[in-house]
Amino acid sequence: MRFDDTGYLDAWRDDGVYPKIHDELFRLVRRTPPTGPVLDLCCSTGLLAQRINDELRVPAVGIDSDDRAITGAVAAGVKVPLLTCTLRGDLAAFKDVLATYEVTGIVARRCFPELFGSRAGLDREFLGIFKTALAEAGVTQLWLQGRQAHRHATNALPSITHEVMAMVLDHQTDPPQWTGRWRLVAKTTACAYLTTTPARPNMTLLTPPQEPSPDRLQSPE
Ligand SMILES: C[S@@+](CC[C@H](N)C(=O)[O-])C[C@H]1O[C@@H](n2cnc3c(N)ncnc32)[C@H](O)[C@@H]1O
Repeated sequence: MRFDDTGYLDAWRDDGVYPKIHDELFRLVRRTPPTGPVLDLCCSTGLLAQRINDELRVPAVGIDSDDRAITGAVAAGVKVPLLTCTLRGDLAAFKDVLATYEVTGIVARRCFPELFGSRAGLDREFLGIFKTALAEAGVTQLWLQGRQAHRHATNALPSITHEVMAMVLDHQTDPPQWTGRWRLVAKTTACAYLTTTPARPNMTLLTPPQEPSPDRLQSPE
């Protein structure tokens, strides 16, 4: 079944069964608990956001550019807020969602290749705008699921490893440099959990070196 098959919504509404295609990423989220509201980026049916809310008791919200998917999910009874929102340009609408719902974590299943990759290569500039938006909004947790690695893949982000590299490296420098902002904490077959590196300790809070006392400066007798 395709990710947006209405059969997933029917099975959830009729039998309370969540899609198996979300299991690996959901288990990773459960193992590395969210510290605040979670956004399901490119959520389609919204059932991953709904499951995070139901089973982990974490506020969740979903966005997707596909209005039909969002309308179908709402009609099937998905309760978490689902919004039609297209990520593009300066990401103004996306930033509004992050601020409104006080999002601190993002789950993104198989959407990085669509947002930042293509046959032509990585959209470095748009990826940079996205990372800046996360930093400004205070997003500190990221759970990713990549595409199944495929020998003949043509997208610039063909696997989870490529998605992790897209986050931890600054691709606007040539060659890409490690930014030190995002770090990989856990990895499964197709998923990864990243957090932001804690800020370096504020040096002014450390005890300053003591001035030598005058008697220590006296020459030994
Ligand atoms: C492969 S599907 C994954 C859906 C969902 N995360 C899942 O795993 O079931 C990719 C989704 O990205 C959405 N999408 C693609 N480009 C987008 C954009 N620029 N802004 C928002 N959503 C987008 C599509 O509508 C589609 O639902």
